[in-house]
Amino acid sequence: MSQLVNTVQSQAWNGAEGRHWSEHHDRWNAINEGFDPPLLKACAINPDDRVLDIGCGTGHTTRLAARAAHRGSALGLDLSAPMLATARRLAAAQGLHHTAFEQGDAQVHPLPTAGFDTALSRFGTMFFQDPVHAFANIARALRPGGRLAFVCMADPQRTEWVRVFDAVRAALALPPQDDTAPQGPGMFSLRDPALIHRTLAAAGFTAVRTEAVDATGHFGHDAADAADHLLGSGPGRHLAAQLDPLGPLDGGDATGRARAAFTAALARHEHPDGIRLRTAAWLVTATRG
Ligand SMILES: C[S@@+](CC[C@H](N)C(=O)[O-])C[C@H]1O[C@@H](n2cnc3c(N)ncnc32)[C@H](O)[C@@H]1O
Repeated sequence: MSQLVNTVQSQAWNGAEGRHWSEHHDRWNAINEGFDPPLLKACAINPDDRVLDIGCGTGHTTRLAARAAHRGSALGLDLSAPMLATARRLAAAQGLHHTAFEQGDAQVHPLPTAGFDTALSRFGTMFFQDPVHAFANIARALRPGGRLAFVCMADPQRTEWVRVFDAVRAALALPPQDDTAPQGPGMFSLRDPALIHRTLAAAGFTAVRTEAVDATGHFGHDAADAADHLLGSGPGRHLAAQLDPLGPLDGGDATGRARAAFTAALARHEHPDGIRLRTAAWLVTATRG
């Protein structure tokens, strides 16, 4: 990796969180792919475009961008070595040879100046320690007039998996999550559209727009399957760890209690094809001034 300032995030995404996303990339895509059509439409990628995917993870949107920019190129940038290994493997298997992946911190990574026509991200821009600095680095990498489009999490109250976590916390007598706590880097750091506008303007973007977009994701084939997935995720492990102050989860009683509570909460979202939950996001577009 080049330089790194987001060290806490790097540890998480190179540790258990990154391994979970890498091993379960299909599931995470089934959860988030409803955002791909509005995101790709907003990007309006031309066949010759050079596209940057910020926080590309296992590279699903990088591969979509590469298909749209079939005479151009697509670069996926991410902190996470395990997720990038999967991204590289899948791009090669699909013959997307004009696709590349680099491990780096988008906040400081030495991207080529004016090296891209379009920058996009699916939930990869919410974890910056210094968002203005990070988006300024991305702006510098875009040519003047280049386009930025990303989706980020909106109000947690409008996202059903957050409500599932709330129900689980209540069932397990854990204190409620404080959604009003001051925001640092994390899933909901860009939930306030006024903050998005201020941040992007300060970073050198113009024509900033935020539009509410919702999508329903597929979390599992039944409640128990979805419960296992959420328990393995970062927020799930964080919740379960609060039940067992004596140490990490080891398949003991704490895990069993958490799994039962998740399964009960998720059963309310059972549909004929499995567990479906709605996520509320902002689709953000801007132009590099
Ligand atoms: C929620 S995941 C989304 C991954 C992928 N975009 C997707 O939709 O599947 C967030 C991603 O952002 C990456 N990330 C977080 N902070 C980053 C930073 N400062 N620079 C580059 N990538 C970052 C993480 O490593 C992770 O892959």
